[in-house]
Amino acid sequence: MKIAILGGDGFVGWPTCLHLSEKGHEIHILDNLSRRWIDTELGVQSLTPMDSIQERCRIWREVTGRRLQFHLLDIAKEYERLKQWLLEHRPDAVIHFAEQRAAPYSMKTDRHKVYTVNNNVAATHNLLAALVETGIDAHLVHLGTMGVYGYSSVGAPIPEGYLDVTIDTPSGPREQQILYPTRPGSVYHMTKSLDQILFQFYAQNDGLRITDLHQGIVWGTHTDQTRRHPQLVNRFDYDGDYGTVLNRFLIQAAIGYPLTVHGTGGQTRAFIHIQDSVRCIELALGDPPKAGERVRIFNQMTETHRVRDLAHLVARITGARVAFLPNPRKEADENDLIVDNSQFLALGLEPTTLQEGLLAEVVDVARKFAHRIDRSRVPAVSAWTKEIAERVDRDPERRALRPAI
Ligand SMILES: NC(=O)c1ccc[n+]([C@@H]2O[C@H](COP(=O)([O-])OP(=O)(O)OC[C@H]3O[C@@H](n4cnc5c(N)ncnc54)[C@H](O)[C@@H]3O)[C@@H](O)[C@H]2O)c1
Repeated sequence: MKIAILGGDGFVGWPTCLHLSEKGHEIHILDNLSRRWIDTELGVQSLTPMDSIQERCRIWREVTGRRLQFHLLDIAKEYERLKQWLLEHRPDAVIHFAEQRAAPYSMKTDRHKVYTVNNNVAATHNLLAALVETGIDAHLVHLGTMGVYGYSSVGAPIPEGYLDVTIDTPSGPREQQILYPTRPGSVYHMTKSLDQILFQFYAQNDGLRITDLHQGIVWGTHTDQTRRHPQLVNRFDYDGDYGTVLNRFLIQAAIGYPLTVHGTGGQTRAFIHIQDSVRCIELALGDPPKAGERVRIFNQMTETHRVRDLAHLVARITGARVAFLPNPRKEADENDLIVDNSQFLALGLEPTTLQEGLLAEVVDVARKFAHRIDRSRVPAVSAWTKEIAERVDRDPERRALRPAI
């Protein structure tokens, strides 16, 4: 297949490009490299030293003989160029990772809220409109998030996209399936909820074939392909805005920094290892919906854990100390989360669950590159409201927090 990977320079995008290239697909990466610019804005860098995208592609060719083609393009701002690109290359599938993906970054200031909405909603809508206009019948696979559902649970499993409801009508009760209601907990999650509505409309109006993957928090760093050469290494975000919870605990342990648990740590989250994430995308690609079918929605996660349990697990393995800090987010102190992921299991996913070996691998990577870590960038400083900002003012070592911008 010829596959366009939008956002293919990112944390999940890059290993997906390598995985699918190794499977023999023709891969085109479209990216505006905005994530690299955000690192510069925040004054941080990936824990792992990343080469330019062109250099990464060159190394992949040297190691495997396979070609990855890179196209510098802003999906949100360059609509005409996107359309021309689609017409010229006519991909069989498009994988869409190209969004601003950090909830804390999206809540930093009003400017960051505006940027996240403009970038994410325009990117998704430009792509949908361009597919319709060019008549290209590509299967669109989008990376959404489990976070669209919020984190309060009624005790029933979160289904894969659709909820059976019974509606009282004048002629008696009627059964219906509706999109599972969203309850986004940040501006970033709100954009992913809006994406869902865009997909619903274009699938029903224009027969676009769309799969939306509601992904859990990705952890780990290496995949089978990124291990093959030091310059194929994946990016690894450790900072308070882009670092995700389990990866952050592991780097904190590696550099002797307390594990930063927010609030009581009673939040339950869904997780998936990076190797399973790329495998799930491959499985979804192999099972496209038909034109006219509703959007196919998968829960792309393999397990759920409570944040404080993860902190204690990492502390047990590494000897790190756990610090309970005021929560910068506006959310319930404690929540349960039960998630249905039976569609991926039925397609053959064999989940990689939290194993000490894989956790230790991340700690080793973090120790190797510990000299690249700026400790002042480790704590999360973006508060959800002005009132919360007043109580999130110290790091676990009791130093005053330095805002990232
Ligand atoms: N990392 C996670 O834990 C996680 C969890 C759930 C869902 N997701 C979703 O998966 C997708 C990929 O996540 P990631 O961690 O790889 O993010 P990332 O920030 O590392 O990668 C996103 C890539 O998209 C590019 N991009 C952003 N806006 C663009 C635009 N307008 N035009 C072209 N390129 C653009 C960036 O430069 C970057 O290379 C995101 O949509 C994210 O919401 C990620």
